[in-house]
Amino acid sequence: MGVSRRNCLIFFVLLSFAMNMETISEAVTDNLSCNFLSSPCFGKKIKCPTQCPLKSPSDPNAKVCSLDCASPVCKTQCKHRKPNCNGRGSACLDPRFIGADGIVFYFHGRVNQHFTLVSDQNLQINARFIGLRPKGRTRDYTWIQALGVLFESHNFIVESTKPTKWDHEIDHLKFSYNGEELHVPQGYLSKWEIQEKKISVERTSNTNSVVVNVHGIVKIYVNVVPVTKEDSRIHNYQIPDNDCFAHLEVQFKFSDLSSKVEGVLGRTYQPNFENPAAKLGVGMPVVGGEDRYRTTSLLSADCGACLFVPGDNSKNKNNVIELVLPTVGMV
Ligand SMILES: *[C@@H]1O[C@H](CO)[C@@H](O)[C@H](O)[C@H]1NC(C)=O
Repeated sequence: MGVSRRNCLIFFVLLSFAMNMETISEAVTDNLSCNFLSSPCFGKKIKCPTQCPLKSPSDPNAKVCSLDCASPVCKTQCKHRKPNCNGRGSACLDPRFIGADGIVFYFHGRVNQHFTLVSDQNLQINARFIGLRPKGRTRDYTWIQALGVLFESHNFIVESTKPTKWDHEIDHLKFSYNGEELHVPQGYLSKWEIQEKKISVERTSNTNSVVVNVHGIVKIYVNVVPVTKEDSRIHNYQIPDNDCFAHLEVQFKFSDLSSKVEGVLGRTYQPNFENPAAKLGVGMPVVGGEDRYRTTSLLSADCGACLFVPGDNSKNKNNVIELVLPTVGMV
């Protein structure tokens, strides 16, 4: 009896301790900053809004505090950390893109080929397209299965595995950095990061969602999703029973694009870009560019319109300076 009473007491002491911790952590408000010179927010510490005080809240459904380092406004905002398929810079479904101009367009590419989504001097993002050609159709039906990201002399891959049947509880994400497979333990907010903090991968739910942050260059919000039987019926994809075509839904937030940026999605970020999709004036504007944007592999930058220069880009772009500021988080 004495033992169980003591256990009880310990339990309550721990409980009240835990509750105290909770109150303390709730009172914390994060401050965000951008630690690269090209950002208009450089050198500022900006407090998070009271609606979303933390940049990494422990509640998966809570909005997170975020700072857009490319925006001249320099204000923290509340954001969901999942790709928004109706937002700018997104590529979802059979790929349906939304450009920087907010215009929706489709780019079908080809099954089992690679195309450049974004190519700039310091960044290259390619996509591998998977899919099929249903009987009697004149084109491939495609989805984005993998992204290959090149920056400096590094490369990073995020891809979906190939399950026959979809199970939401099972993780279908696979990552590699400079050719080595990465293990990012399952679980909300589990994180992998290289020491120099150039790139990190953080899970935004227990399975199948992450945000990849190439610091000062791009944040990529990723989900893995299947093509459902229902989708297949509605669009007449005719997907077989033994493949659910697990693919990526992605949304990009760029911080450091040049005005010459290229790629299926990238070119919509050029200041004077006139979207051919706007002129088409049809319900489902399909844009071309297969020949300009095809690359020979997921990690090559050899497309006709590619701009990427591997190596140390701080030499090429003198506005980017690496600075290490103590205890300052960059979002
Ligand atoms: C954010 O800045 C405010 C004011 O400078 C400070 O009181 C607060 O402790 C800072 N928050 C964190 C998490 O460092």
